[in-house]
Amino acid sequence: MQLQKQINIPERSTYIAVETRTWQRLPRQVFWLSDGRRDTQRIAVLLHRSLSLIEEVTLELRRAGYIILRSERKVLVMNVELLKESFDMVAPHKDAFARSFYERLFSDYPQPRPLFANTDMRRQESSLMATLAAVVAGVQRGDDLVPTLQQLGQKHKRYGAQAEHYPLVGAVLLETFNQYLGPRFTLAMQEAWEEAFEIISVQMVEGASTLPTQ
Ligand code: HEM
Repeated sequence: MQLQKQINIPERSTYIAVETRTWQRLPRQVFWLSDGRRDTQRIAVLLHRSLSLIEEVTLELRRAGYIILRSERKVLVMNVELLKESFDMVAPHKDAFARSFYERLFSDYPQPRPLFANTDMRRQESSLMATLAAVVAGVQRGDDLVPTLQQLGQKHKRYGAQAEHYPLVGAVLLETFNQYLGPRFTLAMQEAWEEAFEIISVQMVEGASTLPTQ
């Protein structure tokens, strides 16, 4: 896996200090999805809301100084230390963490819920944490994770996962880290997870694209 990647990263305000949990759901969702890689139109599609409503919320957030949609180019290095450090902090609570993750996913984004209709959620919770742990360990060892991730992406296509679901899952992952770690989940850690999640998703979606459409 490539550890270095050219990517558009937003200039964001130091929102890690922001208590997003007390916000209403829509501003919170827009806030997490406004990472400079998506415009308001894309966010409207992802959240199944009208463009005008998303623009209104975006404007309010911008006025309050929380999001800056302007992006700038930076070369980023995937920060394995930060991934591991943050993962280790949630690892002792991994069952509760994974449960909160899915609860949040289903309450904030009901669209993918039907895909899990027949899923054993307890098993699924431990698969999620095991995969995250394996990715962090694999990246640390410098393993080539591409084939594994592409296969996982192919399985996901069969499960009905679509490319547009990935950013939702990524946003929920960040929110769950924030919920468990609060200010210990630093801006740098958040960026490390955003970057890692982006790389994982790109590989999974690419793997899925090699399967014929059903
Ligand atoms: C980084 C992104 C993701 C990772 C690491 C991940 C990880 C996993 C893992 C390890 C499994 C068990 C796989 C297996 O059967 O071997 C799984 C199953 C599943 N995932 Fe994901 N996933 C990701 C994104 C998504 C997305 C975006 C969706 C769509 C909403 C999704 C929906 C599902 C479903 C429906 C299952 C099947 C559950 C079942 O067995 O019934 N996943 N995922």
